[in-house]
Amino acid sequence: MSNVQFNSQYWDGLYDWQGAGEEWSWLWGGSRAQWLGSLYPRISGFLPAKSVLEIAPGFGRWTQFLLSACDKYQGVDLSQECVDACVARFSQISKGAFFKNDGTSLDCAESGSIDFLFSFDSLVHATSEVIAAYVPEILRVLTPSGVAFIHHSNWKESGDGLSNEHGRASDVAADDVVKMISNAGGKVIIQEKINWGYDAQCIDCLTLFGWKGPDEPVVMENHDFMLEGHNIRKYQSPYSKLTSASN
Ligand SMILES: C[S@@+](CC[C@H](N)C(=O)[O-])C[C@H]1O[C@@H](n2cnc3c(N)ncnc32)[C@H](O)[C@@H]1O
Repeated sequence: MSNVQFNSQYWDGLYDWQGAGEEWSWLWGGSRAQWLGSLYPRISGFLPAKSVLEIAPGFGRWTQFLLSACDKYQGVDLSQECVDACVARFSQISKGAFFKNDGTSLDCAESGSIDFLFSFDSLVHATSEVIAAYVPEILRVLTPSGVAFIHHSNWKESGDGLSNEHGRASDVAADDVVKMISNAGGKVIIQEKINWGYDAQCIDCLTLFGWKGPDEPVVMENHDFMLEGHNIRKYQSPYSKLTSASN
């Protein structure tokens, strides 16, 4: 069974979406705290954006924040269940559109039309073959100054001897993704290798890239990504639950 077939079967019927993905934000104290304390600080330079595309929104855990930071939003997921859930959840917001794809291409988006492309907590399950297909597609849809922020596996570099309980694609290494990007004519701006779960090893990676970038990207190994999440839950999440209406 191919990786795309496996992911479509798993996320389109087998996974129990009752929690809408919020269950994965427990460490950070909820998706709002995780967005504000962990994700937004890494991508704040690119938001708000005119046009945003999200690969694999699931039930819209990040979509809720991306929608309020753009003029036009497109979400692409290989699971029809996820597409339907996002259509229902965001039906009041006319600037958003959701599409089912084949797990490797971005046919819904015109070439050179996307200012910011985002994918978090999804492509970690995508094998090297799938990432290699997405990279030129991502570059195709980006504007000349557009930027993509994708979260993918780094298991091939750091997973040796660990138990792969989070289902990371085992044949993806951060360096391979750099090569895929440069082979497609793109430039890596920042690569941050991050730990995940209980392990200190950086089994995941955040890659920021586009058509333009420095000759040498910034490469970081962050063994404290989980500790950052823990501290966000402890010290920031109480604030993230407040609004002026709730006081
Ligand atoms: C763990 S869920 C995360 C969803 C969302 N990003 C979140 O953080 O809540 C993984 C998602 O990736 C989608 N997915 C997996 N492989 C994909 C692929 N090759 N192309 C598009 N979507 C994919 C699944 O359908 C599912 O919605």
